[in-house]
Amino acid sequence: MRKKIVAGNWKMNLTFEEGQQLTSEIVQMYKDEAIQDVTVVLNPPYPHLYAVNKLVGDLVGIAVGAQNCSDKEGGAYTGEVSAKILASFGVSYVILGHSERREYFKEDHALLATKVNQALSHGLTPIFCCGESLEIREAGTQEETVKAQLTASLFHLSPEEFAKVVIAYEPIWAIGTGKTASADQAQEMHAALRAHLASKYGADLAAQTSLLYGGSANPGNAKELFGKPDVDGGLIGGASLKSRDFIEIIKSF
Ligand code: PGA
Repeated sequence: MRKKIVAGNWKMNLTFEEGQQLTSEIVQMYKDEAIQDVTVVLNPPYPHLYAVNKLVGDLVGIAVGAQNCSDKEGGAYTGEVSAKILASFGVSYVILGHSERREYFKEDHALLATKVNQALSHGLTPIFCCGESLEIREAGTQEETVKAQLTASLFHLSPEEFAKVVIAYEPIWAIGTGKTASADQAQEMHAALRAHLASKYGADLAAQTSLLYGGSANPGNAKELFGKPDVDGGLIGGASLKSRDFIEIIKSF
């Protein structure tokens, strides 16, 4: 069966000390509350990664991920961080294609395909984000738009490579706005995406792919979202910055 995953995307928030504090609280609650059967991924800013990974230690069930990686293998690219460097100290996931990176840093389909290749070639699991703007939702073309994002940046992968990818559907109009997609809207899109994956990789591989929902998920709506058959977890922004809220979301399955 496919994995249930809750990933916290801290974005550009928290000082080093605050990040350590948050991680320690999450680890403690995770142990005390005997959480099982959910993979938790903490995605802090780059400078926190090493220390967050140390704090998590060998706790099975919590992994550490980056929020981005370079499309390049290595070399003279000032300010960039490669998948190879991330993998070398225990990072195991990387968020790619987040709408903030697509919009503010002009990351396009082709660049994201290259980043996905970099991640996979160094053993990182990409959490590949897709999602439509409000304008597209209002025009009713959201399914074509989101399917095209997957086709353009993932469908060059072999089935063996694709099997390592996690997908996060994040409608842009729901990110950080307090306006969550309804559980039915999420389910409708996730079912459409799974069918799209099945058309390329077959029903079995599509059924094994974890599809996360992201966009104003919180302890109050996570249960209904995660209760839908094609919603396999969440990519959580704002609510991942508070240990109690994040843990309650994890416990919503
Ligand atoms: P949000 O962010 O939960 O704060 O809406 C989600 C995301 O952008 O990953």
